Amino acid sequence: MTNSLRMRLLWWLLVPLALYVFVTGKAEYDNARRTADLVQDNQLISSARMIAGEVEWVDGFLRVDVPPAALEVFVSPYRDQVFYSVRVDDGRLLAGTPDFPPRPLQASDMPDHYDTELHGQPVRAVGLVRQMYDNGATRRVWVTVGKTVRSRDAMAQQLWQPQLVRQIAMIALAVALVCIGLTFELRPLMKVKEDVADRDPMQLEPIRVERLHTELRPIVEAINQCIARLGVQVAAQRRFIADAAHQLRTPLTLLGTQLQFARQQDGIHPALDEALAAMHRSNRSMVGLTNKLLLLAQAEAADNTQLAAETVDLVPLAMEVVEDLALLAQAREIDLGAELNGVAPVAGHRGLLQALIANLAENAIRYTGRGGHVTVAVNADSDTVTVSVLDDGPGIPAESRSRVFEPFFRASTDTDGTGLGLAIVREIADAHHGVIALKPGVGGKGVHIGVTFPRVVEELRAVI
Ligand SMILES: Nc1ncnc2c1ncn2[C@@H]1O[C@H](COP(=O)(O)OP(=O)(O)OP(=O)(O)O)[C@@H](O)[C@H]1O
Ligand SMILES: [Mg+2]
Repeated sequence: MTNSLRMRLLWWLLVPLALYVFVTGKAEYDNARRTADLVQDNQLISSARMIAGEVEWVDGFLRVDVPPAALEVFVSPYRDQVFYSVRVDDGRLLAGTPDFPPRPLQASDMPDHYDTELHGQPVRAVGLVRQMYDNGATRRVWVTVGKTVRSRDAMAQQLWQPQLVRQIAMIALAVALVCIGLTFELRPLMKVKEDVADRDPMQLEPIRVERLHTELRPIVEAINQCIARLGVQVAAQRRFIADAAHQLRTPLTLLGTQLQFARQQDGIHPALDEALAAMHRSNRSMVGLTNKLLLLAQAEAADNTQLAAETVDLVPLAMEVVEDLALLAQAREIDLGAELNGVAPVAGHRGLLQALIANLAENAIRYTGRGGHVTVAVNADSDTVTVSVLDDGPGIPAESRSRVFEPFFRASTDTDGTGLGLAIVREIADAHHGVIALKPGVGGKGVHIGVTFPRVVEELRAVI
């Protein structure tokens, strides 16, 4: 059987309903047949009585004059054929069709109704006996009237068909209601499906069960328990990465100092000095990687409620970043500009927001060639605050744009880097309800990357 819930429920409903309609339909058909039989039998008996009433003694002989009224009762649009016969007990036929009735007459004088056949047609008939007395002579006269059954069948159909139509309509209505009802009642489940399907892979909040039917709640609660377990697992993994990065920092820093110390020794062989310099560079990039891993873990673990507690103005924050990177920009002969006016309050973590701007600006400086221009801007309107970094460097190829936010993805490997910078930016933006827009810069050259945050309404915060 199909796996569709709708089809299964319909099946459960339709089979018993069809059975019920069949049984009641049969009973109703029998009823209609009985009623139609009764009506026809009444016509037959009144006609037979009328004919029997016309049998009389004439000069010691029995005679009958069948009145037209006795047969007129049968007039119907169904062109039924009517047969009758009047016989005396010695077998003489007084009137009517000689070969009717084919059934032997009963001994009793009670009217006898029966189904028979004449000239290949089904016939409903009645036999009636009348005792005739004359001068001490007694004769029994049998009057039999029969009629083909077309009008009776038509009447039975007329009585039965409306019932059948009503019952079929009832089934159709039930099917339609089940389909509509199911579509309607399954909506909350569809909403859960959309809720789960649209989720970010790391969105581990439980699914809301309040608006669900009681029957569906246990399923969603079980999924929620699974999500909760997954959340614990993810948190443990993040903690592990953060702890590992943290643990690595001290020995790496120590190693860096030792390498520096070793290189300062007198009479060091140039080949050894070169090897020590290479080790020092590797050590620096390992420290960089460890720091970024730690920052990523910190951004991933950022708690929304904690973040909302502090208001940070992005204008001075961006200024600090620009000042910090001025030397790097100078070294790379990049014209680093800033468009920072007014106030741009955002609810969040100062250190993380600073890291976000620093990563964007650092990318722009590092990937834009000598003589390039980089601008860091913060714009605020009544509802939002946008921090954007614009450069006129080589830009990011369209096919890589969707992937640059993945951890460890690097569009070009010409320069050093861990591939974690934009992953950190995305985590920090998500934690602060920020929306990232990445597009080519002015004239299709370079990169324009902006992050838009909800602006903090100061008055509202003061009231709260
Ligand atoms: N302003 C930019 N111009 C051109 N390419 C960029 C720019 N910003 C990012 N990219 C590309 O996107 C990739 C991912 O950037 P991301 O900051 O995540 O990593 P990274 O800069 O390579 O390493 P990290 O920042 O961790 O040292 C970069 O490798 C680079 O190819
Ligand atoms: Mg980077």
